[in-house]
Amino acid sequence: MTDEPLPEPRALELTTERLVLRSPHEAMAPLLASYLEYNRTHFAVSSAYFETPVTLEWCRAALIADARAFEAQSAVRLYFFEKGASAGPIVGNLAFTNIVRGVFQACHLGYRIDQRYEGKGLMHEALVEALRYAFEVLELHRVMANYRPTNERSGRLLKRLGFLVEGYARDYLFLDGAWRDHILTSLVAPGVVTPPHA
Ligand SMILES: CC(C)(COP(=O)(O)OP(=O)(O)OC[C@H]1O[C@@H](n2cnc3c(N)ncnc32)[C@H](O)[C@@H]1OP(=O)(O)O)[C@@H](O)C(=O)NCCC(=O)NCCS
Repeated sequence: MTDEPLPEPRALELTTERLVLRSPHEAMAPLLASYLEYNRTHFAVSSAYFETPVTLEWCRAALIADARAFEAQSAVRLYFFEKGASAGPIVGNLAFTNIVRGVFQACHLGYRIDQRYEGKGLMHEALVEALRYAFEVLELHRVMANYRPTNERSGRLLKRLGFLVEGYARDYLFLDGAWRDHILTSLVAPGVVTPPHA
């Protein structure tokens, strides 16, 4: 036994013109609580349930789970901040989840931005860099993103990023109290990704 502190979990930081995208850390819990609480109604149409009211304990547990998933590379969640404002607030977040390797090399993508920062091109900016990371560093072949037909902002964003519509799923996710139809889209890596052990 030594008294040496445990190593900090691996951290990731990506930068864009206006933003810094960071991997989760439990120290972000107070910022996450304010972000989720302030945007409760804004996020409700597209997000899974989060606790009412959002407590610090709940946020800390969520961030620790996110950090473990990042270590295991089963999901990569990034929280973003304005450049020069690393103490907060959280501007938005995105997540590559359900990362499957082998012959699929694919994942799902989710994202949301604080309503005060909507309509400035910030989510597009964050996603351009995050998708570069997903294809070049995570070596994924396909990123799938799905949105409700009423979520026109999300549809425009995905189209601008080059996502193609692949289908329509009835009663796809249980959101905001009911099963909701979704438009299914995906973006394939610009280069050829060869799965490991292929
Ligand atoms: C979906 C969501 C992330 C889109 O956010 P957004 O800010 O509209 O996305 P973008 O970063 O692409 O910004 C584009 C808008 O900024 C405007 N804009 C302003 N300055 C800009 C700039 N410098 N560069 C690019 N666009 C700019 C664009 O004109 C565009 O507005 P428009 O759609 O009215 O034409 C956001 O609405 C959201 O978080 N919604 C709630 C959660 C949600 O629905 N998540 C998705 C689930 S599928």
